[in-house]
Amino acid sequence: KPPSQKLLRGRVLDFNAEPQDATDTSAYTYLTDGAILIEGGRIADVGTFADVAQRAPAAEIVDHRPNLLMAGFIDTHVHFPQVQVIASWGAQLLDWLNTYTFPEETRFAEVAHAEAMASKFYDLLTAHGTTTAVAYCSVHKESAEAFFGEAARRNMCMIGGKVMMDRNAPDGLRDTPQTGYDDSKDLIAKWHGKGRAHYAITPRFAITSTPEQLEMTGALVAEHADCFVQTHLSENHDEIAFTAELYPDAPDYLGVYETYGLLTPKMLLGHSIHLTPREIDLLAQTRAKPVFCPTSNLFLGSGLFDDAGLRGKGICNAIATDIGAGTSYSMLQTLNEGYKILQLQGQKLHPLRAFHWITRGNAVALGLEDKIGTLAAGSDADIVVLDARATPASALRMERAETLSEELFILQMLGDDRAVSEVYVAGVSAKTETQTHDRLAL
Ligand code: GUN
Ligand code: ZN
Repeated sequence: KPPSQKLLRGRVLDFNAEPQDATDTSAYTYLTDGAILIEGGRIADVGTFADVAQRAPAAEIVDHRPNLLMAGFIDTHVHFPQVQVIASWGAQLLDWLNTYTFPEETRFAEVAHAEAMASKFYDLLTAHGTTTAVAYCSVHKESAEAFFGEAARRNMCMIGGKVMMDRNAPDGLRDTPQTGYDDSKDLIAKWHGKGRAHYAITPRFAITSTPEQLEMTGALVAEHADCFVQTHLSENHDEIAFTAELYPDAPDYLGVYETYGLLTPKMLLGHSIHLTPREIDLLAQTRAKPVFCPTSNLFLGSGLFDDAGLRGKGICNAIATDIGAGTSYSMLQTLNEGYKILQLQGQKLHPLRAFHWITRGNAVALGLEDKIGTLAAGSDADIVVLDARATPASALRMERAETLSEELFILQMLGDDRAVSEVYVAGVSAKTETQTHDRLAL
């Protein structure tokens, strides 16, 4: 009979607060010979290998030395129906949506297509070390069924919702205020709180919803205060101008969502780049969360997210890929581009703060830090194993690395799926046998 406990041995890094730099040693634990004990899909114990092994003598030991064990990565904004939109040339936001994205999303009306893409989507996330994502599905209820059904089969903690959009989109990609409301409500009843699933009420953005739809979205939010809410905010200047035309009475872009009662601490606002002082104050007051999407903001030429400015107002920022405008599934590559966006504004992103951000930081933004984002006993066992020597370039650079911070920064700048040597989802190894053997053969 297989042992019911698994003990992962390796270097262990875990955060309990946001570190600003390496001197913030109370914010994190780093064990050079550490261990994580997994039992029943949860983390049962964590500590030095000697201590944990002594407390669990019957556990099956999996030796990941010299690699680094951390909580699995969390991607707080990603579009599941855009897996075949990523890397589409030449346009900024509104043209990119109309030319590439909307036509592709119409294909998700078909159940077989949605199911096939959901499986590929989770394969990709997992290979890149992402164990939880907050996703937009397409307008079709079927796409959300495929999204949640496949996550349940894999026992992954996923947050998502059917997009609501009833104007400024092609035929086959619009709902109505009533069907958007009804379909969302059915999906909430079926999936929210089932296993590891959470529902996110998902009006796409102000441009694609009529006032009637946002009104009914407000009702949904009021009726389901435990659901997340997600949308887009102030990504692009043309988008902001069009929104002002469509909602002439709103004081500003965020004011549209405010009018319909959508702003709560469970709301995630993708991009939040070009904000007015009133909007920033309103984010601080309502504790709604801006989501920084570095690779997307550079790819679409949208602008530079003001991380320090928002944080200075006490706002909690999340970070995300925004696939398919984002250009990598990797949260490491997301941090790479994020670092550069902050550099352009004279802001700093220390690697310890960076790795906190894609784990516990995003979990805190979601209010899920008791379940994911850390290695604390009682958490779900979503764990990533990182190899900073996975490529010739990073291995060569690692020869000159002396500190944990240096290693993390090398992973942040040079790492991607190749640096992810193993992933555990609720305690179960998620990398396929083939991928493991390929890596060993190298
Ligand atoms: N705004 C509205 N929809 C989208 C989308 O799919 N991607 C991005 N980047 N911005 C959006
Ligand atoms: Zn988006």
